[in-house]
Amino acid sequence: MIITDNIQEVRAARWRDAADWGFVPTMGYLHAGHLALVAEAKANNEHVAVSIYVNPTQFAPDEDLSTYPRDMERDLELLRAAGVDLVFTPSDEVMYPAGFQTSVLVKGVTQMLEGASRPTHFEGVTTVVTKLLNIVQPTRAYFGQKDAQQTIVVRRMVQDLNINSEIVIIPTMREADGLAMSSRNKYLDEQQRALAPVLRQSLLAAEKALNAGERDAIVIRALIYRMIAADPLPEIDYISVADPTTLAELDEIEDGALLSLAIFFGKTRLIDNLIWKNA
Ligand code: PAJ
Repeated sequence: MIITDNIQEVRAARWRDAADWGFVPTMGYLHAGHLALVAEAKANNEHVAVSIYVNPTQFAPDEDLSTYPRDMERDLELLRAAGVDLVFTPSDEVMYPAGFQTSVLVKGVTQMLEGASRPTHFEGVTTVVTKLLNIVQPTRAYFGQKDAQQTIVVRRMVQDLNINSEIVIIPTMREADGLAMSSRNKYLDEQQRALAPVLRQSLLAAEKALNAGERDAIVIRALIYRMIAADPLPEIDYISVADPTTLAELDEIEDGALLSLAIFFGKTRLIDNLIWKNA
């Protein structure tokens, strides 16, 4: 497994021949969710590259950049065991050298939900993902449904900018009690961790109501709200029932609608989502 912080080395390895490369961009502290993306990349490409880079430009000044969990040794062991060919571990100097002054901004679908709560977040994501895709030039790049809006924003950007990689979305991997795996789950104390599965439970209750014929988005949002607010600990950031392409909030719920929420447990912000499929 090649481990490098050097862009030329990545390019040289990638273009040694014209084989298919799968690419999984990450911020490290890997869990089974990341590894599911790696496994899918491995199954459908001759070679797999993973990046580990905690991208400072997608964190707001008051967010957790300095405390974001890191464990490079363990990450590299996991990636070696998964049969990854190349790991790109750039420094800030490599990604944002002195004089850097370009940014990629997707306009519409970055404005709401995560974008409303974290106004500078997606510009950081789209800029770094563009750079990573330009560096690795993968045949396919893999993203998790856990970050639903990120998948929509990245798809939009890749289409708008004619980036020559196929974007593949992988279902959310969960703990046994339904909590979506996340590097940030580590921040939860015992009481918060015990309550955190309510995100998933509220989405499943909403799905059940939809399957029983409810179509009113107000009713569905209220149902989710009541389940989350039943305990005083979680603080609701947003609860959304939106069109899966435009992310516009819906009045009447249609097949494929994106139900999503962001909930604070103390300073820790958890997200989850569900795409409703009319059976
Ligand atoms: P990170 O949070 O490390 O996530 C890397 C990838 O793993 C993302 O595509 C994310 O959606 C996916 N992922 C996270 N948790 C998952 C889970 N439980 N199940 C399935 N997939 C999961 O997302 C980022 O990093 C960054 O924004 C990045 C795209 C790397 C740009 O900096």
